[in-house]
Amino acid sequence: MSSKVRTAIFPVAGLGTRFLPATKGTPKELLPVIDTPLIQFAIDEARAAGIERMVFVSHPSKGAIESYVRDDTELRRTLCEKGKEKIAETLHANAVHTQDHDVVFVMQDEPLGLGHAVLCARDHVLEGPVAVILPDDLILGEPGCLSEMIEAYGRSGAGHLVATMEVGRDETASYGVLEIAAREGRLTRAKGMVEKPAPEDAPSRLAVVGRYVLDPAIFERLETQPAGAGGEIQLTDAIAHGIDTIGLAGFTFSGERFDCGSKSGMLRATLHLARGRDEFRDVLDDFAPASVVLAAE
Ligand code: G1P
Repeated sequence: MSSKVRTAIFPVAGLGTRFLPATKGTPKELLPVIDTPLIQFAIDEARAAGIERMVFVSHPSKGAIESYVRDDTELRRTLCEKGKEKIAETLHANAVHTQDHDVVFVMQDEPLGLGHAVLCARDHVLEGPVAVILPDDLILGEPGCLSEMIEAYGRSGAGHLVATMEVGRDETASYGVLEIAAREGRLTRAKGMVEKPAPEDAPSRLAVVGRYVLDPAIFERLETQPAGAGGEIQLTDAIAHGIDTIGLAGFTFSGERFDCGSKSGMLRATLHLARGRDEFRDVLDDFAPASVVLAAE
């Protein structure tokens, strides 16, 4: 069987309740960090990692995501006619073109959990291991997190590889958390993994963030995976089930991660990217005392 990671699954069906009222009309994956929607960062990361097929697991109410992802030649033509070639070029570069990548949209009609979302993609993945990217977890850095993980995947010897970072003991209830067997450089061999443990029950402070490279056996497990934390079918539980047979390792990525599923994470990401753009220097200067406080938190 091929060991090349050719497919990336993007679970984007969530209702985005934490960002209401903004997400009443706009999918949370299209909320911008300055002018770039979250989903764009995820797409660019997948492209840079050599992904051939992108499977978006969406919701019927979130048609705007598909409109965003696909090329809009009409809009680009109108922009060019108005002399706005530069932004037209950006739109062309951002869109996923069907001659370069397969793009598949499948619907997850009910919010049954991340594991269920991944299962919805089952019939659309190419042979070999699959990547899962949660666009809420923005990871900035070169090379991209998924590129680093795919590079590490083969030599890890583990069938399942998850991106990991240390979090505060008081934060474990927001993450999947690894039970550590051994550390080998940037890889952490795991002997267990639990979804959203209370601080007193957490087996470590090594948390999973939203990048996974998974052995395709995950789909078979997800078919029968009972509901777990929050009454949802958890990807964490299905991965943990295969630890003895398939193997699980955590991967310490080099980039900086922003929790864009939270308002403060979104603000941090915005300030971080604004710092890199001259056009915002005056604005940041105006808010300098406040941004120093934010950075120190
Ligand atoms: C999901 C996963 C969790 C992981 C987290 C990373 O949780 O279930 O294991 O640690 O993403 O962001 P969610 O944030 O969707 O509740």
